[in-house]
Amino acid sequence: MNDTTDRRNEPANAQWGGRFAAGPSAIMQEINASIGFDRKLWRQDIKGSLAHAAMLAKIGLISAEDERAIGQGLEAIAQEIEAGSFPFEEALEDIHMNIESRLTDRIGEAGKRLHTARSRNDQVATDFRLWVRDAIDGITAQIVDVMRALAERAADHAADPMPGFTHLQTAQPVTFGHHLLAYVEMLDRDRGRLADCRRRLNQCPLGSAALAGTSFPIDRHMTAKALGFDAPTANSLDAVSDRDFALEFLSAAAISAMHLSRLAEEIVIWCSAPFRFIRLSDAFTTGSSIMPQKRNPDAAELARAKTGRITGALVALLTVMKGLPLAYAKDTQEDKEPVFDATEAWTLSLAAIAGMVRDMQPDTDRMRALAGSGFATATDLADWLVRVLKLPFRSAHHVTGRLVSLAEGKGVDLADLSLAEMQSVEPAITADVFSVLTVEASVASRRSYGGTAPENVAREAAKWLAVLA
Ligand code: ARG
Repeated sequence: MNDTTDRRNEPANAQWGGRFAAGPSAIMQEINASIGFDRKLWRQDIKGSLAHAAMLAKIGLISAEDERAIGQGLEAIAQEIEAGSFPFEEALEDIHMNIESRLTDRIGEAGKRLHTARSRNDQVATDFRLWVRDAIDGITAQIVDVMRALAERAADHAADPMPGFTHLQTAQPVTFGHHLLAYVEMLDRDRGRLADCRRRLNQCPLGSAALAGTSFPIDRHMTAKALGFDAPTANSLDAVSDRDFALEFLSAAAISAMHLSRLAEEIVIWCSAPFRFIRLSDAFTTGSSIMPQKRNPDAAELARAKTGRITGALVALLTVMKGLPLAYAKDTQEDKEPVFDATEAWTLSLAAIAGMVRDMQPDTDRMRALAGSGFATATDLADWLVRVLKLPFRSAHHVTGRLVSLAEGKGVDLADLSLAEMQSVEPAITADVFSVLTVEASVASRRSYGGTAPENVAREAAKWLAVLA
């Protein structure tokens, strides 16, 4: 900002300037103003004012004509903002004063009565709760969409084996459907966190006024109900100064973004040349300006990276709030940008992930082939020794280890050892052992509740598709 003009001789702020002889300095105005970002709250601000005016009219604090004029004026303002012709002014600080001032320009005296029995402190707390509530509803619908996309793909690939990893080392075969449904579980908890947040958020601060409540006989239950809240907030000091609803929202965002980032990372790994588990189409990849062979999963990388700013938003707001004495302090004006930014990043990530999940083409033959490599059925062999030969698991583990080492030395898989070679390690082994050494037998045997067996996965995918329909 280059304009360091001293505005002290200009008229003071029309909304609060009664006792001010002069206007703020340019830098004061710039640091104070939030209109650059809080204009996003305009719908909620108008909605809140309409509910407030209706309540003021009902209890007789303003006339029916005033209420009508306020309603029409706010409607006209909504159209102006929608059309992009509203004259936003930094000198009017924020969305609340921009709208109120415009209303008074349009309808005169009645506009000046709107601010009876409220303050910008309860107004902004109400507007922001309404905004976060809308964001929760939008994001929840997006999470459900990603869950549905995953469940659909899982149903198609309920029986397709892939290598399962621990430590990113081949561990045991799993099915691709099972792997995808793991993310459905995570996302379901993410939407549960949002639902919890929404439930606690859904109380209305309006009427708490500046901090102490008001001497006017207002009906807070009426405004709470009109705005879709479950109840009015019970403590005016808490209502104007707390932002834990926004912090809960950002916590849910950070956890969900972390989940999305893990899936994004897997997509990046899966479509890398050494893996080639999946292929993303032109719709979700970009080329390299220097290496013509490249097909880069930029959308997945960016979904992975956006976790940084979402987590950052949570830390930023926690830091703003810590140590603030009751009640309202201007610090809380800094609550909005982290929430807006995180919401935008989260929305975009969810949309990109939904797109990629629907777009990806798995190479099921390759995944099946790799599912059996790296001695992935060693646990099945050990389990066979326990089940059929009644070896204690620790002994079975030891025998299997020796067989793996034998196979490794010969450069073959476990299933390629001859029966005689197997018996050289454990004489009681019979040819039946080979029945458990295939990838298909391995996954089919994992029928324990929550296990990867195709019949489990098909049932779970169908369950989710019914729940999410
Ligand atoms: N723009 C302010 C905010 O977002 C509105 C409340 C201002 N209240 C006040 N007393 N200055 O927090």
